[in-house]
Amino acid sequence: MTEKKYIWHKIADHINELGFADNNIAVAEVKGKKICIAKFKDDVFAVAYKCTHAGGIMADGYIDALGNVVCPLHRYK
Ligand code: FES
Repeated sequence: MTEKKYIWHKIADHINELGFADNNIAVAEVKGKKICIAKFKDDVFAVAYKCTHAGGIMADGYIDALGNVVCPLHRYK
């Protein structure tokens, strides 16, 4: 069994610094790479900036009622 190792990167001192848009998605940069930060209820999580399907910008999508970040182009979750 392989042990997962996580590397944490600090992107802000406080969640209010992230500049969430009305869709509760913010864009942050880690080591020169853009990522999306999504806020849903009491959770905050990171997702890819570009959709793996065809490169839609996930920050332009929305968070559905189940907390999925939905791509604005073809609704990949
Ligand atoms: S580019 Fe995101 S679902 Fe197609």
